[in-house]
Amino acid sequence: MKILAIETSCDETAVAIVEDGRKILTNQIYTQIDIHQKYGGVVPEIASRNHVEKLPLIIDTAMEDSGLTYEAIDAIAVTSGPGLVGALLIGVSQAKAMAYALNKPLISVHHIEGHIAANYLQFPELEPPFLSLVVSGGHSHLIMVKNYSDFEVIGKTLDDAAGEAFDKIARVLGLGYPGGPAIDKAAKQGNPEAIDFPRVWLDKGSYNFSFSGLKSAVLNYLNTQKMKGRAIVVEDVAASFQAAVVEVLTTKAIECALDNQVNQLSIAGGVAANSALRKKLSDAAGENKIQLYYPDVNLCTDNAAMIGAMAYYNYQAGKVADKKLNAVPNLKIGDH
Ligand code: KG4
Ligand code: ZN
Repeated sequence: MKILAIETSCDETAVAIVEDGRKILTNQIYTQIDIHQKYGGVVPEIASRNHVEKLPLIIDTAMEDSGLTYEAIDAIAVTSGPGLVGALLIGVSQAKAMAYALNKPLISVHHIEGHIAANYLQFPELEPPFLSLVVSGGHSHLIMVKNYSDFEVIGKTLDDAAGEAFDKIARVLGLGYPGGPAIDKAAKQGNPEAIDFPRVWLDKGSYNFSFSGLKSAVLNYLNTQKMKGRAIVVEDVAASFQAAVVEVLTTKAIECALDNQVNQLSIAGGVAANSALRKKLSDAAGENKIQLYYPDVNLCTDNAAMIGAMAYYNYQAGKVADKKLNAVPNLKIGDH
């Protein structure tokens, strides 16, 4: 089954064609990062306008690159949420129009479930049940994937998402947008033990996260240094902040897997591209005999191939959308 998938939930205009949930036939991404960079973050209205302009061109490129005709496409899939409502609407309207004109089924995909499915594209052996740590610009979740379309949220952030914290700290350090890759790079030249930033564990046995205290601690540190006329070593701040985030994510993910007796753990979402997180989780998973899966960096950040992968399993579970499909900016997992 060949699914053409569209992803426009934030600042990437992406189109892919995926076969049977596992094989990428084409994966096209137009990123608007350069456009939003000068504003220090994504400007929703500008994102929507760029999606309108670029989406038809990206679809043409995907069709050309795959060498397929529209007749060979079996279904159209689209991210219907969560995300920026205006941005989501562009993808949803396009997908509905295509499904109607081509007379093909329409499949709605939850963006976070898509991130989880990115792992299927790279690891043919990966099958549920497994635990997934989904860490992106908008989400930090620990999710039990009981079956391909049956998810249980075991933990989530009570305030900032991990990626949001990376972006905010990068901004105050003058490292630009998006912050995650910039901090990752700066941290490589810094000392992760230079500053002892807090690790927030919350109640014993809780798998929830909280990053706002850490963010305040970094801001306080920077203000104090400035007030006392002391130098700020950006690389050390980046490395010490990153170490605090990575330690909490790693410890909670491993404990959660052990407590729930699952020996497979996957990571997904933009922050899963972080080199320190990949290294620490790999070591910890190895020590605890847990098989760790993480996709290539271009499948961690937003893309449409992951939406095509998840759409296949939604279709297998009988989840097909109708022409009333709408964009839902705060869509809950499993709720579509
Ligand atoms: O999944 P994604 O592309 O979009 C959302 O669904 O939010 O994630 C984007 C987030 C941004 O906050 C970005 O700073 C972060 O992922 N990110 C990283 C890295 N690459 C991207 N965070 C830490 N280290 C990275 N290497
Ligand atoms: Zn995402």
